[in-house]
Amino acid sequence: AETEALFHLNRTLVGRRVAVTAGPTREALDPVRFLSNHSSGKMGFALAAAAQRAGAEVTLIAGPVNLPTPEGVRRVDVVSALEMRDAAERAADHCDIFIAAAAVADYRPQAVAQQKIKKKADRGEETLALVKNPDIVAGIAARTDSRPFTVGFAAETEKVIEHAQDKLTRKNLDMIIANDVSAADSGFNSDRNTVTIIDSSGCETLPPTLKTELADQLIAMIAARAPAQE
Ligand code: PMT
Repeated sequence: AETEALFHLNRTLVGRRVAVTAGPTREALDPVRFLSNHSSGKMGFALAAAAQRAGAEVTLIAGPVNLPTPEGVRRVDVVSALEMRDAAERAADHCDIFIAAAAVADYRPQAVAQQKIKKKADRGEETLALVKNPDIVAGIAARTDSRPFTVGFAAETEKVIEHAQDKLTRKNLDMIIANDVSAADSGFNSDRNTVTIIDSSGCETLPPTLKTELADQLIAMIAARAPAQE
């Protein structure tokens, strides 16, 4: 009975639908090259697993990563930011909580070459024209209809809280989780993370924690703050 009670204690998201984005996006230059970043997907996958443990129905929108799908989670694989946007918009139509842990490329090459781009013997420099990708989490937070409780991350290398607070306001988020990605053993590709949770009521910094454990804590905080279902 005690185990049963403990099991139910953490089942804070029963009946709720959660969508999580995770990992990097890849922005193709030509058939063999792309622009991307060092996100491993660990933070987002840990959040999806934690939400599932808490009883939620979870959709995990994953960029190209090397991680197994958490048990009981519906996974949608995407490659580019535009594909991630489309999958996220579809998931957001049917979710109560949207968590953006993905490291989406801010820009993509203006043109994708159909053939491999050749090295030019006479040129020592080359410029690349980029266009801005849509901001996925801001698009979802800007909804007036079927707007989920929207949580973003902020990957910063300086003035972490200030920049995260600015993103919280600018993107109209309900909560933002700031991580200093310049710190050793934290942020991109690490098993641990050091975060500050910011919302309209203030901010709280947690000590360096394994992403798997941190995910349970973050899900508990999100579950406590997301409005109850009608
Ligand atoms: O994947 P790991 O190796 O475990 O690393 C985890 C992480 C460091 C990638 C993660 O904790 C994290 O910080 N994710 C967000 C990374 C990021 O791109 O941050 P940003 O400050 O550039 O973006 C702010 C927010 O807007 C994020 O929620 C991001 O998902 C979202 N965004 C950004 C650009 C864009 N075009 N669309 C978005 O939705």
